[in-house]
Amino acid sequence: MTLPDSITRIQLFNTDEGKSIGLSYFKERGYLETTIREFGLGYAPNTKDGLTKAALKKQFKEEHLKLLGLTTRNDYDFFRTRVMFSVHNLSGKVVALAGRIMTSDKTQPKYINSPESEIYVKHKILYGIYQAKTAIRKEDECILVEGYTDVITLHQGGIRNVVASSGTALNKEQVRLIKRFTQNIKLIYDGDPAGINAALRGLDIILEEDMNIRLVLLPDKEDPDSFFKKNGTEKFASYLKENEKDFILFKADHLLQFAGNDPIKRVEVFKEIIQSIAKVADHMKRFTYVNLCSTLMKMDEQILIAEVAKVMDQNLKARRIQENRDRLRANREAASNVDFSTDERNDYNLPVIPVAPRITGDEFQERDLARIMICGCDKLYGENEESTVGEYLVTNIEDSLTSFENTVYQQVFSYAIDKMKKRRKLTPTGFHSSPE
Ligand code: UTP
Ligand code: MN
Repeated sequence: MTLPDSITRIQLFNTDEGKSIGLSYFKERGYLETTIREFGLGYAPNTKDGLTKAALKKQFKEEHLKLLGLTTRNDYDFFRTRVMFSVHNLSGKVVALAGRIMTSDKTQPKYINSPESEIYVKHKILYGIYQAKTAIRKEDECILVEGYTDVITLHQGGIRNVVASSGTALNKEQVRLIKRFTQNIKLIYDGDPAGINAALRGLDIILEEDMNIRLVLLPDKEDPDSFFKKNGTEKFASYLKENEKDFILFKADHLLQFAGNDPIKRVEVFKEIIQSIAKVADHMKRFTYVNLCSTLMKMDEQILIAEVAKVMDQNLKARRIQENRDRLRANREAASNVDFSTDERNDYNLPVIPVAPRITGDEFQERDLARIMICGCDKLYGENEESTVGEYLVTNIEDSLTSFENTVYQQVFSYAIDKMKKRRKLTPTGFHSSPE
């Protein structure tokens, strides 16, 4: 299923209402036309079913429009008189839309979002990831903010490694998505209690994925969008530098203040802090945290070391049990996949990869990736079959292609990327017949 997102752009750029309400709103917010196009911004008109009708005219099916939430059960447009934001997945496909209200009517939600659908699984998406992924890898850091406009404003201002969790609490899937590009996350949140709590909720999930987190709190009542507009690129960057805090230390400090002198609360807070420290994998880093937190907590360093070790031991045992389970499952799956000898794939004269013993090294992985690309490029992939295996591989490999060791496997991917850029269909036989 495809969202008729182009229709909201046509409304924005080519209709009088779109231009006078939508486009002028975005321009007032300081967005340049290139930014508006890059982020696929649009407009939903003040009509009963203007978007729906336009989509039907373009051969979109009514049933799909309803499943995607663009049209209500009563055949009304779901988005009306709102400026529109496109939500892209990692490969750049628009999987959801969000609409911001144009009036100050407090009885209506400021933003409404497409419902979850076959193509939109909310907790797996980060707003802006498609536009940010190259910069995240290059800067080796991902900046996490809360809102759509925060992402767009910073991106336009040259800070391109930014994504948003869009009003939901950060979850594991989102952290893993970031981890594909970097180990470092910087949270920028409002300095009010709601912002701090939202940030604290995300902490353990990030630590569990063995990532480094820093936090920047903005002055009260500011969000990254408003703060950036007031200060500009340079001042904004220096504010980040001067105010970024290590997140575990921030958490310790914040919780201890909250506990005050209440002994029961203090013990609870100690336990929380110890849990967080125990999740730090690097022992030098962990020791530094022990050292600094023992001062903050006014606790003997040796006792803290022993407590952290105890928790780590418990965590390790739990992880071993899980790993054993995973290994058993992987072995079972591998065993059922070993024999390729009667498989049609051998028509392409491809190497058969032995499952055991394991070969390590980049070249092995390159060969395996090339094999999967050739054999399965046109197969649907993902829980909701939202892309093909080919698209998935290209999205994840494109940036590291230049560092491939083996040029033959590199060519397999260059060929696939070239085809996809030309919007031609990838098929296993295509690799075989094309010598380029
Ligand atoms: P905010 O209320 O802080 O809005 O919500 P904002 O991002 O600053 O928007 P502007 O600058 O006024 O246009 C933060 C984020 O929470 C989600 C949106 O993703 C929003 O960007 N949100 C907020 C919703 O999904 N629904 C809402 O009703 C409000
Ligand atoms: Mn805002």
